[in-house]
Amino acid sequence: MTEPYKNADDILIELRSLQRLFHRRKVLDIDQLALMRGHRYALVGANGSGKSTLLKLLAGVIKPTGGEIVYHGLDGEYDRAYLPQKPYRFSFSVRQNVIMAIPDKAMDKQQRRQQAEEALRRLGIEALADAKGNKLSGGEGQRLALARLLAMPHRLLLLDEPTSATDIAGNELFEEALKNYLAQNQSTLIFATHTLSQAVRLADTVIFLDDGKAVEQGPPEQVLYHPQSDGGKAFLRFWQG
Ligand SMILES: Nc1ncnc2c1ncn2[C@@H]1O[C@H](COP(=O)(O)OP(=O)(O)OP(=O)(O)O)[C@@H](O)[C@H]1O
Ligand SMILES: [Mg+2]
Repeated sequence: MTEPYKNADDILIELRSLQRLFHRRKVLDIDQLALMRGHRYALVGANGSGKSTLLKLLAGVIKPTGGEIVYHGLDGEYDRAYLPQKPYRFSFSVRQNVIMAIPDKAMDKQQRRQQAEEALRRLGIEALADAKGNKLSGGEGQRLALARLLAMPHRLLLLDEPTSATDIAGNELFEEALKNYLAQNQSTLIFATHTLSQAVRLADTVIFLDDGKAVEQGPPEQVLYHPQSDGGKAFLRFWQG
């Protein structure tokens, strides 16, 4: 894939000959990709195409087998926030789960509690503040994980299928909260989704992964409605956007 010219100052992350192998099988192979500051990227592609692997590499949860990821100005401890496809949560209260995501250096105890409760409200689970985090339903747990992320500013959000378990109300609350968050914090967003309408609503750029390769990249209207690659055409054949 050829990259159009981009202002180097605006590049947040560069992927260079990035490869990840599992048991000698290449599951990710991206020659060159520049991710721009403040942009919103949706990763789409079939099951097993490498979306989660790419997000894990960007989050630093796993290491590349070859090549490199160059970050520009993402050195702070809380700069990158990552939501795994199966988010974990702790057994204490929902409120405490969120409070723990806010560093105590940032504000005093009372402020952290208020901030946490505000994040729970935004995701519509304030009534669960005293429930145990590990006893929530799948969708409630996902809302909690999102509340944790949105409870404080991060420069980069890496979200792996953030609404795969939430209901319609949960999706709407999340999308609204996320849009406000991005506008307020000027954060960069990279998320994987199978909800292509969500990619249209949230992303300015869609990256289509096919068998570990980034074969298409462009605005949602282009990649999702007028795919050029055979893989993209096959993947989108049944989608009635
Ligand atoms: N830890 C691992 N060990 C071995 N193989 C792995 C591992 N993690 C991922 N893979 C393989 O790498 C490929 C890409 O997986 P990945 O989870 O990135 O796909 P995905 O695009 O996120 O798919 P989905 O839409 O199902 O979430 C898959 O074939 C998967 O089986
Ligand atoms: Mg995945």
